[in-house]
Amino acid sequence: MHQVCSCWRGCIRGLYSCNWREPSRTNRKMPCCWLSFVAVVSLLSLSWLYICLISFNDQEELNGQLFTWLKSWFNWFMLIIIFSAVLTSYCILLLLFALTQIIFGEKLDLHWLHKIFLFFGAIFIVGGISVMVGMWKRVLPTIPLSLQATAPFLQFGAVAALTLISSFVFQAFHNIKTKSRFLILVLFAVVSAAIFLCPLLIQSPCFIELKDLPEKPKLIAHRGAPMLAPENTMMAFERSVTCGVMAFETDVQISKDRIPFLMHDNKSEFLLRTTNVKESFPTRSITSNLDLTFGEIQNLNAGEWFLKKDPFWSVSQLSEEERQTARNQTVLSLLQLLELAKQHNISVIFDLYQTEKTSTDSDDTAAIVDTIRKSDINPGLILWLPPDRRKWVKETAPGFVHIYSNLSEMKINNDRHLNVKYNKLSMKRIRELRADNITVNLWVVNERWLFSLLWCVGASSVTTNSCHLLKDVEQPDWFMSYQTYTKIWILVDAASVLIMAALFVLQWKAHCSCLRKGRQRGSTFSDTELPFLSQHMKP
Ligand SMILES: *[C@@H]1O[C@H](CO)[C@@H](O)[C@H](O)[C@H]1NC(C)=O
Ligand SMILES: *[C@@H]1O[C@H](CO)[C@@H](O)[C@H](O)[C@H]1NC(C)=O
Ligand SMILES: *[C@@H]1O[C@H](CO)[C@@H](O)[C@H](O)[C@H]1NC(C)=O
Ligand SMILES: *[C@@H]1O[C@H](CO)[C@@H](O)[C@H](O)[C@H]1NC(C)=O
Repeated sequence: MHQVCSCWRGCIRGLYSCNWREPSRTNRKMPCCWLSFVAVVSLLSLSWLYICLISFNDQEELNGQLFTWLKSWFNWFMLIIIFSAVLTSYCILLLLFALTQIIFGEKLDLHWLHKIFLFFGAIFIVGGISVMVGMWKRVLPTIPLSLQATAPFLQFGAVAALTLISSFVFQAFHNIKTKSRFLILVLFAVVSAAIFLCPLLIQSPCFIELKDLPEKPKLIAHRGAPMLAPENTMMAFERSVTCGVMAFETDVQISKDRIPFLMHDNKSEFLLRTTNVKESFPTRSITSNLDLTFGEIQNLNAGEWFLKKDPFWSVSQLSEEERQTARNQTVLSLLQLLELAKQHNISVIFDLYQTEKTSTDSDDTAAIVDTIRKSDINPGLILWLPPDRRKWVKETAPGFVHIYSNLSEMKINNDRHLNVKYNKLSMKRIRELRADNITVNLWVVNERWLFSLLWCVGASSVTTNSCHLLKDVEQPDWFMSYQTYTKIWILVDAASVLIMAALFVLQWKAHCSCLRKGRQRGSTFSDTELPFLSQHMKP
């Protein structure tokens, strides 16, 4: 038993400091500073990993942005997440190793290689945060939003961590003889009080009782079901029909021969990501939707890229037959989509992309309204979003439902349908709008936690990539009355305080009896009896 134990100690020490055989004899400079450094980088990397995980919902947006710069698609977000997860695990392990050595009363001696890794890790995280603050601002409001879903659990985690750490703090307190011991205790008490009481500040729409829980938000298929089939193809929309979506969301452009078709990417990246345009027209320079006729566009393959790039890491879940179908997809015309929508009584909402080359924008809108009329679809199924010629559209096609990205524009037009990014409105505002009988659609909502939060707050519908997952969500991840939450956090805090008090008394008694033994032997502490902290915390 003893051997196994010392082997573990050796291993942990070896991994931390490369002193495999015996503890470091020499007194290293500033082991405490390096311990603090490990702790700080661990905290930083944990926070960074949290930010990455909650931004996972918007991975498509980041990858898309990088694609427009680099002109070649890669799942950068996954790479960043994997790297961050590895970095965080590494930091936490180092921290645990350090704490273990402290328990065994060994001297800490962080190896220089770890110092370098940690340094680069810290640079990576600080760089990542600055890039996010500078270039990807749109994701920042997601952080406070996510806390409304996670804060209660983060607080429980923090209380648990605090309870564990308290035993080290008390040990330091008992071993240090100077007045700084009280400083340590006061500091610890302040941090503890902050963590214990922070539930007073936590707010969430999910503090709600079952009887007040709003209806489940309806689902709108974002470019079809793009995790199960290539986006904006017939297969993708057919897959989304099986989710029971209320609407298809898509992106419309006009071809050279004035036929509206579905394609998200525009400008110079047009067709590059989702078709084999490079192989089909190797010599032609294609920079906009007006360079090709719909016949030429329809001859392109719009499915193979999906199997090759696997943008959502979901291709492995498809059957061989589904892959065959995916491989065979083409670009859809708006008319084809309207036929499908008509057949299933499903609404259609779309963004309209126009190029600068179009001299009269009106033509694009007119071509689209024409196509909609030709399809003979119930006009009540068209959720009209493009703002440019809304007045003309209202006059020409009076049956359309008008939906707005701009609240004041909606009010001016005396309409009641709103379509905004999920982190644009506060939870309070969404609740007010819903109380005012305004329908609120939020895009793009892919993750369960976010869907749960928006369900609690009463969103009417969400635009999503993952209708196949959200359709099965039967209730929000969590919801409870505020009174229940108050009881839980008070209980958790009380349990933690009790455990800490018990630890304090036990350690105090152990310390006293240790002192007595020391006096009986007529000596002060030996090296092994004297816990680590006392050596390094002496001022
Ligand atoms: C692929 O599509 C073409 C034209 O749409 C069709 O003729 C052919 O049968 C399809 N092949 C498969 C394997 O689905
Ligand atoms: C189509 O759906 C709407 C609600 O979205 C419903 O009111 C209407 O009755 C449905 N029509 C048919 C023919 O099912
Ligand atoms: C929203 O609409 C109002 C009124 O039409 C306009 O003044 C404002 O600039 C718009 N806001 C945005 C962000 O487009
Ligand atoms: C919203 O609609 C409900 C039911 O249709 C109605 O009872 C309520 O008065 C409406 N509220 C407002 C502010 O219009």
